[in-house]
Amino acid sequence: MNDLASRPLRLGILGAANIARAFTAGVAPSKVVTVAAVASRDTGKAEAFARECDIPRSVGSYEALLADPEIDAIYNPLPNSLHAEWSIRALEAGKHVLCEKPLAMNVGEVRAMFAAATKAGRHLVEAYPYRAQPQTLKLRELLAEGAIGKVRLIRSSFGVAFSDPANIRLIPDVGGGSLLDAGSYSVSLALLAAGERPARAHAMAAWGETGVDLSVAATLVFPSGALAQISSSFATAFHRHALIAGDAGWIETTYLNHPPMGGPPVLSIRRGTTLGIPVETIEVAGGNGFLAEAESFRDMILEGPSRWTGATPEQSVDIALTLDAIARSARSGATVDLAA
Ligand SMILES: NC(=O)c1ccc[n+]([C@@H]2O[C@H](COP(=O)([O-])OP(=O)(O)OC[C@H]3O[C@@H](n4cnc5c(N)ncnc54)[C@H](OP(=O)(O)O)[C@@H]3O)[C@@H](O)[C@H]2O)c1
Repeated sequence: MNDLASRPLRLGILGAANIARAFTAGVAPSKVVTVAAVASRDTGKAEAFARECDIPRSVGSYEALLADPEIDAIYNPLPNSLHAEWSIRALEAGKHVLCEKPLAMNVGEVRAMFAAATKAGRHLVEAYPYRAQPQTLKLRELLAEGAIGKVRLIRSSFGVAFSDPANIRLIPDVGGGSLLDAGSYSVSLALLAAGERPARAHAMAAWGETGVDLSVAATLVFPSGALAQISSSFATAFHRHALIAGDAGWIETTYLNHPPMGGPPVLSIRRGTTLGIPVETIEVAGGNGFLAEAESFRDMILEGPSRWTGATPEQSVDIALTLDAIARSARSGATVDLAA
């Protein structure tokens, strides 16, 4: 992989997943990252997917992809219940891993994944395309420079409608449920805005017929005293929105993966505490989040972790701890202290 500066990073995809179609199309214009192969449990499916998505090679098993010396890194868009197993197997096979969110089913799996990455000397990161967007980079810059003062209240929500019982999102055994899916976005944004891991979580859920949570609303309490309300749903019209209110102003963001699809790539900000202060609209560049994310992943492999715009390993552990606490609270009705 020493020659990565002079050739594209060769990605292999585990599973002919729906999201892998969009990922491959998004990454296609890149000069520094290429999708070189796709693996499916079914050879015919792998071949058809490769033809459809213009991927040069296909293989009929995940093991064959991991054994391929012409693959530098793996994109893992398997169902949530398989993220840990196959990311660890990929790391043990010497591949770097870009794994779809949520990184795993629980924080125990997440920690085992990072331990495997450290042992293998390879990078493992969680895919949140919005984190690579100029919109999010600008948001982080504004928060860091204190543009809205100390963050006190956060509200982040992501909802979308799913009703097909065959969709993995509605199947408990493969890690379905709105919290792990859309909720991982709301939680990741809230933790990014707070800049720390919550101390406590209290949550309520509405349960669907298949046994997964269809909607979740949770309150998070941060050590700084900041509070967040996060929500996720599989039973609403598409919406994705966050308000971050500080003691000296507020920011609203759509934190979209691929703006302007479904919304404008803008941040709204009021720099001040009173109603009379005009709200500014900051226009930011949009674009395909998969492309920006994949190129940041490649830059990290070549030049080190500072080139990765997404969640750090510590932040991914914090996201997983928070998701675990919300899930436990939603089931028990009790307020849950986050484990250390
Ligand atoms: N970042 C984003 O914007 C975004 C968006 C959507 C989804 N995602 C994430 O991406 C992952 C996949 O989502 P998706 O909607 O693309 O899923 P999907 O279309 O159902 O694809 C999942 C793939 O996993 C493989 N698989 C292996 N074992 C399976 C099993 N027991 N049941 C079902 N599939 C199995 C299948 O590939 P083969 O049959 O070819 O082996 C299948 O095509 C999830 O973790 C989700 O959270 C992320």
